[in-house]
Amino acid sequence: MRHFLRDDDLTPAEQREVLDLAARMKRDRFSERPLEGPQSVAVLFDKTSTRTRFSFAAGVSDLGGNPIIVNPGEAQLGAKESIADTAKVLSRMVSLIVWRTHAHSGLEEMAEHATVPVINSLSDDFHPCQILADLQTIREQKGELTGLTATYLGDAANNMGHSYLLGFATAGMHIRVAGPAGFHPREDIIEDAKRIAAETGGSVTVLTDPVEAVIGADAVITDTWVSMGQEAEKAERIATFGAYRVTGELMAQAKDDAIFLHCLPAYREYEVAPEVIDGAQSVVWDEAENRLHAQKALMAWLLKESK
Ligand code: CP
Ligand code: NVA
Repeated sequence: MRHFLRDDDLTPAEQREVLDLAARMKRDRFSERPLEGPQSVAVLFDKTSTRTRFSFAAGVSDLGGNPIIVNPGEAQLGAKESIADTAKVLSRMVSLIVWRTHAHSGLEEMAEHATVPVINSLSDDFHPCQILADLQTIREQKGELTGLTATYLGDAANNMGHSYLLGFATAGMHIRVAGPAGFHPREDIIEDAKRIAAETGGSVTVLTDPVEAVIGADAVITDTWVSMGQEAEKAERIATFGAYRVTGELMAQAKDDAIFLHCLPAYREYEVAPEVIDGAQSVVWDEAENRLHAQKALMAWLLKESK
């Protein structure tokens, strides 16, 4: 059984296969019907969402299936029933389990006990579905991924920081992440990304200086400084990350044709200036749309591999 919990659950060749399929499915939205029946897909949320909820609900429908959306607090999962028991019950009823949760270990436990593929739609440590959409978007803009340089700025210790390291190294890109001391990625994830980059011809650089990180980049990326679950630290975090705000001046350090990405939701008063996210270099709306196409391709691929 194949699952997608971390970006490196796909090999470089498999990631390419999923991205190729995503591009084909974007051109012909209703061409693939692997969930015809309709088969059902569990889409579980322990945290709020707009893009993930709509892209999985619409995506499952596009594939001929029926999404069963469970909002935070609506299921027995967690406090009232174990993850293992939930995995066994859901596996008798649905063809895929998609779960947005807190601790990444919960997803590992779900995958261990499920007999259908499990997809991580965001944990505290990784957001791999977002990275597939970002890769699809960058490839649309640049024509290729291998050899490109992408810089992620801000909270390099969060789920996006970790997933950019693994997912972009898998794509053979040069990934730079920059954040203040104390907000660098987990050491084991840096090591995993470096090992992957050594195979794919990419590279991994962790920096503190935002300007050094952005110089010559093909893509500049940021995310909220206050992830879901960190709301109590908001004031402290805003004071810490100020130097990493993506402004027009900082974008000017990247290549002239550099693009700007953000997984959204965005806070224009903090991590990105309106002139950047609403400007000509921004591809954030394509990026949001590509969640739909990339995840449909991922679901179709996992269903095929798990037959
Ligand atoms: N980018 C992203 O995952 O958005 P949502 O939190 O709205 O799903
Ligand atoms: N790092 C953010 C991503 C939101 C899509 C969070 O976890 O809240």
